[in-house]
Formats: sequence, C-alpha cells, structure tokens
Amino acid sequence: MTKLCLVALATLATIAALVPVNHATKDPKTVCYYESWVHWRHGDGKMEPNEIDTSLCTHIVYTYFGIDAITHELKWLDPYLMKDLHDIEKFVQAKGKAKAMIAIGGASMSDQFSITAGNEQYRDIFARSVVNFLAQYHFDGIMIDWYGVQERDSENLIHLLDKFDEKFASTTYSMGITLPATVATLDHYNVPKITVYVDFINVLTLDYAGPWGKVVDNASPLPEQLKTMEEYHKRGAPRSKLVMAVPMYARTWRLASPLHQDLGDAAISGGTKGPYTDTEGILSYNELCVRIKGSPNSFNIVRDVANTAVHAVYLHGNEAEFYSFEDTKTLAAKAHNVTTMGYGGLSIFTLSNEDSHGTCGKKYPLLHSIVENYNHDPIDEVPITTIPPPTPHPTEVVTDIPGVFKCHSVGKFRDHEYCFKYYDCVMGDFGLESTVMYCERHQAFDEKTYKCVEASQIPGC
Ligand SMILES: *[C@@H]1O[C@H](CO)[C@@H](O)[C@H](O)[C@H]1NC(C)=O
Repeated sequence: MTKLCLVALATLATIAALVPVNHATKDPKTVCYYESWVHWRHGDGKMEPNEIDTSLCTHIVYTYFGIDAITHELKWLDPYLMKDLHDIEKFVQAKGKAKAMIAIGGASMSDQFSITAGNEQYRDIFARSVVNFLAQYHFDGIMIDWYGVQERDSENLIHLLDKFDEKFASTTYSMGITLPATVATLDHYNVPKITVYVDFINVLTLDYAGPWGKVVDNASPLPEQLKTMEEYHKRGAPRSKLVMAVPMYARTWRLASPLHQDLGDAAISGGTKGPYTDTEGILSYNELCVRIKGSPNSFNIVRDVANTAVHAVYLHGNEAEFYSFEDTKTLAAKAHNVTTMGYGGLSIFTLSNEDSHGTCGKKYPLLHSIVENYNHDPIDEVPITTIPPPTPHPTEVVTDIPGVFKCHSVGKFRDHEYCFKYYDCVMGDFGLESTVMYCERHQAFDEKTYKCVEASQIPGC
C-alpha cells in the first residue's frame, strides 16, 4: 500500500470517528431463551418446545447445561426430561430457520466453570464433550453463560474460549457469551479478546432495580441499559456484536403506603406471587396480563414520556403493589433504539414468561412488537404498532386515592395541586394509562386548549 493511500485512509478514519452513529443494524438478532423446566409446570405456565414461534427468533437457546465435577464433561440439568422424554430433540426439531443453541451455566450450573476452565486437560475434555453433544443432537452452537466470573478466572475464560474456537474450527457452530450488567465486575473480562472469539455478546441488562432494594423503580430502564452497552463498546466490543437483554417479566414490590406510589417511594417487600413463577417479587408477563385484565380498575398504569418505561400500581384491600414491566410499547421503542444505534439486537428473558399461549390476546405480543420495530433503515421512521384496547369492565368499583392521579378517560388533565403539571391519558395495551408532563415555569396547563399558557390566565393558578 502506498503512503498516500495510508494518509487517505487515516483521514477517512478520522472523519468516520466524528460522524455520529447512524447505521441501523442489518440483520438484528433476536436471541430467545427457553427454560426447559417449564415443562413441569401446570396450566398456562407450562410450555413445550413445539410452542416456540421460531419465526420470531434468530436464535433459540435451551437452558441449562452444566459441567460434571468429576469427568469435566457436559452435564445435563434434567436427564429424564431432556433425554428420556426427548425434550432436546423436540427443541431442535422445532427450530425452523433459527439457530438452536444450548446455554451452559446460568445461576445454578456455573460453579464448576472456574475449576474446569483452569486446567488445559479439563478444558479439552469439556470442549470435546460439547462438540460430541452438538453433533449428536444437531444443535448449532453454544452460549457460555458463566455467571460470577472472578478476577482469577479472567485468563482462564479466554483459554476456554480459545479451546472451543479450536474444536469448532472445521464446523459451523456458533458461540455466544453472556456477560453481566454490573460495571464494577467488567474488569474481570478481557473484552477485546472475548470479542474475537464469539459471534455475539449477550449483555444481561436486566434487574437494575428489584424488590431487594427498598424503593420502587424501573427495573430495566433504557438509559441504564444503554449505558451498560456503551461501557462494553468503550472497552472494545463492536456495537454490532452486542445484544441487549430485555425482561419478559415484571419486578414487583409491596408499597409501604398506597398514598406514595411514585418511582422512588418506599416498599416493604416483593409483590405477591403469581401462579406459575410462584415467587414473590416477580411476575411473568403472562401472569401480569391476566391479573390486569381480571380487574383493570384496580390498576393505575403510568408511562414515562420517552415511552421506554411503564409501571402499574395494583390496589387490593388496603394494600398497593408496584409493578415495573415491559409492554409492546416499551419494547417497540427499545427494539427501534438499539437497532438505530447499530447494536446487534435483543435477547429475550424468557419465552415462557411471554404470552406464548395468547391468553390475553394474540400470541407472543411482546416478541411481535420487537421484531416489527427493528429499524432496518436509518432514514425511515418505523411506525409503532398498537393493539386495540381491551373493553373496560364497567361493573368494577373504582377506588381512587386522594393525591394520586388516575386516568378515567382519554385526554389531558391538569394536576389539582400544581398547575404546571398535567397528565396525558391515552389507551395502552391494558386500558387507560397516564404520562406525567410539565409546562414551563410560571405557566399552567389549560384543559380547554390542551396548551401551556401564562399561569395568570387560569383562575386559581
Ligand atoms: C435511545 O434512547 C436513549 C435513552 O432514552 C436516547 O437518549 C437516544 O436518543 C435514543 N436513540 C435513538 C436512536 O432513538
């Protein structure tokens, strides 16, 4: 290459660095996690591999596998279900055009990684057993979901990836890795090296808030999620390789008082259990939608102005619960945002939390909204899909709380206390919901013209 060429290239590189990111992602990934154990649930909580709509996923991920502590080979979490009941064969048969992957590790199966990855012979045995498994059951790849990587594991993780790379050399197997959202632990990861080995990095941008904290908040707010993604990018991962996780579940809290139900207000514990997830502090989307549709007037649904976060307050008896969740609108905005930013796509936690049976409407409303709102073109704005609102139940008693605004019809309404504050009430997935809006200082919201005007023009303001 001539020197002149090099100068020209250097100039181009400088220009490229100055131009803001504006490349929509070409082929966004939708990485759909599937929890095998939902087979053992009852009713609508149960799900089988053939119920996965693989037209909505580019990757389907079967969870979880571990590592045998004695042999260092791949270990099945539930051999009876997976092998004897042919669950993994059914899973691969259902894959359609998606890539079928297994995830190794997760919260309960990660312990052995540190030991196996720390020894060349163990790594070799492990990787060989994985390749044999993939070949025998016709899978397309693996996710390394090693949770809790410590500083001492940092180099061994790279050795392990290198081993898989070696074993996968003459195959078409894919490899992805799941990495945490906690920025404090990022130093344990050699991001540039990891990036070279994997097809994509699944960033667990979930649970920024939850019932372990004693105040209510948005569980997976987009600005925080993007901050985490950007942190990985800054450390050397190309945006196109970074996939952002989104929850298909709500984080839930019991509020300390029904009178204080805003973001940042106090909570005393996790919210009441759902019938399938059976755990305080969490509700799958399909549990949540049934709960809201069962008594819509007991819910007050509030959306943020950027359309990327929504929460619901549930009143029952003298108690109130706060649910931070994702719906078709927040996920549409997130899908559009990440692809506009040039990120690789989204990962779905998890398929069984979605309304996969269509209990509350059409099947897989959240996944549809994601896939339909990816930005495939950086210039055209993709319209946001909306679902017709459910019919309200007129018989139910409406309980209003003094000092807490609740929508009763579509429109814009001035706050009773602060004239510059008003509420935009629109129909959402589950009925009326409000967004808080503010006028400029010294202004008041005029309910007749729907405009902010000089405060003196409104009597009482
Ligand atoms: C994505 O969301 C962030 C945070 O809400 C926002 O600042 C940014 O402008 C959005 N980007 C696009 C391309 O929509």
